[in-house]
Parts: sequence; structure tokens; C-alpha cells
Amino acid sequence: MYLGVDYYPEHWPKEMMKQDIQGIKGLGANMVRIGEFAWHLMEKEEGQFDFSFFDEVISELKKEGFSVMFGTPTATFPAWLANKYPDILSEDESGNVRFFGGRRQYCFNSDVYRKYSAIITQKLVEHYRDEESIVAWQIDNEFGHEGSDMCYCEQCHLEFQRFLEKKYPSIDELNERWGTIFWGQTYNNFSEIPIPKPTITTHNPALKLDWARFRSESVNSYAHEMTAIVHEAKGDHQQVTTNVSGGFFGKWFDHAENVKTMDFVSYDNYPVWGGLEKPIAPAAIAMAHDFNRGLLDKNYWIVEELMGAQGHDVIGYLPRPNQAKMWSYQAFAHGCTDMLYFRWRGMTKGAEQFCFGVVDHDNRYGRKYEEVKSVFTDIREYENVLNSEIQAEIAVIYDYNNIWSWRSQQQSAGFDFTAELLRLYEPFFKQNAVMDVIPADRDFSKYKVIVVPVLQLIDEKLATRFREFAENGGTILFSYRAGLKDSDNNIYLGKTLPGHIADLTGIEIYETESLSSTQTVEIVNDETGKRAELSVWRDLITPKTASVLYRYDDEFYKSSAAVTKNEFGKGTVYYIGGGVGSEALQEIASEILGTKEIWHLETSEDLEVYRRILDGEEYFFVMNHSSEEIIFREELLPAFASKVIKGSL
Ligand code: GLA
Ligand code: ZN
Repeated sequence: MYLGVDYYPEHWPKEMMKQDIQGIKGLGANMVRIGEFAWHLMEKEEGQFDFSFFDEVISELKKEGFSVMFGTPTATFPAWLANKYPDILSEDESGNVRFFGGRRQYCFNSDVYRKYSAIITQKLVEHYRDEESIVAWQIDNEFGHEGSDMCYCEQCHLEFQRFLEKKYPSIDELNERWGTIFWGQTYNNFSEIPIPKPTITTHNPALKLDWARFRSESVNSYAHEMTAIVHEAKGDHQQVTTNVSGGFFGKWFDHAENVKTMDFVSYDNYPVWGGLEKPIAPAAIAMAHDFNRGLLDKNYWIVEELMGAQGHDVIGYLPRPNQAKMWSYQAFAHGCTDMLYFRWRGMTKGAEQFCFGVVDHDNRYGRKYEEVKSVFTDIREYENVLNSEIQAEIAVIYDYNNIWSWRSQQQSAGFDFTAELLRLYEPFFKQNAVMDVIPADRDFSKYKVIVVPVLQLIDEKLATRFREFAENGGTILFSYRAGLKDSDNNIYLGKTLPGHIADLTGIEIYETESLSSTQTVEIVNDETGKRAELSVWRDLITPKTASVLYRYDDEFYKSSAAVTKNEFGKGTVYYIGGGVGSEALQEIASEILGTKEIWHLETSEDLEVYRRILDGEEYFFVMNHSSEEIIFREELLPAFASKVIKGSL
């Protein structure tokens, strides 16, 4: 088990190194991550490679028994490269070049960039292939983060046309499938096809979805190229990873594809960043862990765990005492096996002066130092528990093509994909059910329940998989706009909604309404008399074989259903026809958890209990996410407390 910090020795006078290493050791750490962003230090001028600084760093670290994760430095190329080859710089949609000065300003389709990235990566990894203290390589840094996954330069334009020429047998087929007859956009050849730069009104939805797929291929082919170089050059004792950033559903690349040739996934866990008044919701933090565990379907590392407030400009919320420790416990609970805190000491110069670390600029070993030390002290005894496999009985299903389809046409001003996925995730989270978050193309037949948020792209093949799952006794929870479109991002012709799954859901939808971002409508459960609010969107449902759980209760639509439940085969299929409020969804989640006999636990708001099993023994990770003390099993849990309870509750 590796525990440690992100250490940037090149940021500090050399004479501080020994003291820093002792300080890191005092945490109980046994690993540091170094090297990412240090390209110039290793190649001051083209072709002049010099690893002597890091040779010395590694030698000092080895004296104290540290292992090392080394980051390949391609997220920050040297100024000499940008000045010699300005075409490596990416462009925004308005054609503005991203100038040297930040990071990740490179174009993924620049042949020159790929060439020089390959050289530095190869030289670095070859230099340290036999270094036994280096046990892992991190490829680049947070691929695609901070807007770097999108580039509209001429190189990308050409590559996009080549991508389309490979995908479509003919320009006629592209025209037909894109519907370019609309607004007279028919192309005579692929070289006429634009990239979706600013235009009057909006671009063709099929073009926008293929452009997103092309962006994903651009990022991922670069990642795969660098990963292959590292696999080829590294020592057998060294593994390969990359660090996934937050906001992953808002990125223009498929993350499971990105990491598929790597040995394990690493994640950067920042429950609060840059100017937020408070952290994101506990369910959102938890979902991110489940997403990262789902990428390679196995436990993962955290290589940047937040300890101090963070921001490049506006900083925001200061994690309260023990709150970052509690978030660490939550990460371990959800499948993190090894953890590095960002960063050893906050930097006094450069763009991240306000990304506070374990130690602050005053170089005092204070409250945060002790908090990290207590995590490392407490968690080691559970190493085997952390390495145990998490066997969820519920899977939340997502598909990047579907996400990009929604991004191409939002349909409702209040729509946000991540919020809609969390709308269905949170009711189960609040009952402490264990969930996987996995791509739609992953086999989901082993689960008891699958949750399918706003999946508008459903084709016959996927519908068949859903049908088989329900026929075999599975429970499915669909939410609105399901089955609207085909994989070309076009609406089905002559197909009653929900497309391909009308039989499964036992409903038909003839009319729908987009609600404004502040608008809600009332729905009512005639059986219980319970009322609920519904926002963002509404499908006006006509039940066929399905029973009605909630119906609309406004002027014209009292006879339309809002939430339905259908018995299909040996299974049950729920349909949530809009942005239904959490209380109503909580009831449905409870019903599902009970009937499917899935372990869950009622706890007070903001108390998370995550169940792990090792050799038949139960271990419960308990996290108090609130600033108030909570009584749990007759024990008082202080604000932001976290602990592990062994044995049944
Ligand atoms: C990201 C990056 C780090 C650093 C931190 C600051 O996670 O990976 O390089 O910028 O944010 O919070
Ligand atoms: Zn480009």
C-alpha cells in the first residue's frame, strides 16, 4: 500500500530537499509523485537530455526507503518547442491560438507535438527503466482538463475530414445519415465539411456528434501512443496509469477508452475547488469514485487527494478540521487502495500559489500535517480490506455518445447530464447501497438493478440487452427522453417513444414539454396522495401495460402519467418521466432495494456508511459529512468524523 504526497523538489532550493524528505517521512509516507510538468528541466534545449536533477532526488528518496511515481512531463512543453513550432499550439472555436503560458495548450493532432512528446517520454522512461524505486508512471496530467480536449485548428479540421472519410463509405452516405439536405448543406466531397466553429444559429446535430467522437479519438489516440511508448520502454516492475480529473462527464473524450491500455486508474479527488462556497454533495463525490472504479472495473489510486483549499485565482472554501480526512476515508471505502495528497507544500511562485498543500508557505507542520499523518496511521491496518473487490448489485449506466448528443442540443435550459445522473444515483446513495457506475457497453447482466439516466440514444441492440435483463428478472430504472434518437444523433421516424423500449416500459409518449430552468410542475400519487415536484423536462406518458405511480396534476395533463412501473418478463421496469424530486425517488429506491433484497442502511442525512466484505467479514466505513455531530449506533460521531467498524452493525 502506497501512501504519500505529490512532491515538486524542483520548486524549492536544493538545500530544502533533505528536510522535506524527512518531513514527508514523518507523515508515515512511503511514496512521492514527482516529475510531471518538468520537461524543460530534462530537456533545456532540443535533444539535450539531462536527468541529473531527478537522479539526485531519487537517490535521496531511496535513502529513506521511498517509492516513486514519475509523471511524464507532456502536459507542459518547453517554450523553445512552442517558439520553434507554433503549430503545436491549439486553437479555440474562434480561432484564437492558446498562447504559451498556461499548460496543456497543445493540439492532440499536431504531428510535431506527438513527435517531441514521444521523444521525451521515451528518453525519460528508458533512463529510469531499471530504477527499482520507480514503481509507476503517470502519463501526462489530467488529459483534456481545463478545456484542453477541444481544438479547432486547421490540423484538426483536416484530421476530422479524414476521420469522416474513414467512417463513411461515401459522401452520399454521410449526406443521407446526417440529413444535410436540411438547409441545403449537401457536401460534394469530404473536403467541404466544416468543423463546428461559430456559425449563424447552430450546426447539424449529426456533425456535432461526430465531431465529439473525433475529439475523443484525438485525445485517446495520443494517450494510447504515449502509453505504448511507456509500456515498451519501462521496467517490468513499473506500472502505467494516468490521473483522471473531476468533471469527467463534461469532457470530450471517452474515459474508459482513454485508460484501456493502462494498468490502473488514478483519480484526483477535489470535493471543493476554485471559489466554491462549499464542497460538492457527498453523493457527487461518491459517484466520482464509483465512476473511476468502473473505468477498468477494478480498484484505483488517488494521486491527488485534497488537503488544503485550492484555486488558481479565487480560492473558496477551507476544508474544516478532519473533513479532508473524512473524504479520504470515503475514497478508501469506494475502492481507492493507494493515496497521495496534493501537494507536499504550497508553492510560493507561479500559477498555483493558492493551491494549498499539506504544509503551507510558512513551512510549519501544522493541523493539516497531523491530519494526513493520522490518516496514514489509521488506514494501514485495513490494507487488505481496501484491496478487496467491491461487488455492487446496482449499476448506473452512462454512454459518452449520449452525453455528447445532449451537449449538441440541450433541449431544456435546466438540463445538465451529471445532475440527471445524480438525480437517480443519490436516492440509492442515501440508503448506503453499493453501486457501480459503468459504460453502457459493459456487460450488466450480473446486476440485480440497472439505473439508466436520460439515455436518449438507444438502438435495437442495446434495447435487446435491456429486454433480456428485465426478462431474466432484473429491475431497470429509466429516466426521461429514453430512446429518442439513433446513433447518428437523429430522431427516429415513425417510432413511438420511448423508442425501442415501449414494450419494456409498458408506456407510450405522444407529447413532451421542455420546462424552463426555474419551472416546476406538480405530480401526485393517487394511491398515497403524496405530491412531488418535477422539473427540467416532462414526458406526458400514456400507460399501456404499466401502472401509474405518479401522474401530472395540472390543467391539461391530469390523465398523463409522470412515473410508471411495468412488470416485464420476470423483471420490473420503472420510467421516470422528468426531473422528479428526491423524496419521490427515495420511495422508489427503497421499494427496489427491499424487493431485490439489496443490502442498504437507513441513516440520518449526511451520514454515509459504506459496506466492504473481506473473507466473509463485514467492514463499515462510516463518514459524517456534516458539520454537526451525529449519533450512530449509540455513539456520538463528531463533525466530519470518519472511522471503520469491523463486524455486523
Ligand atoms: C489538478 C492538477 C494539478 C494541480 C491541482 C491544483 O488536479 O492535476 O496539477 O493543478 O489540480 O488543485
Ligand atoms: Zn488542433
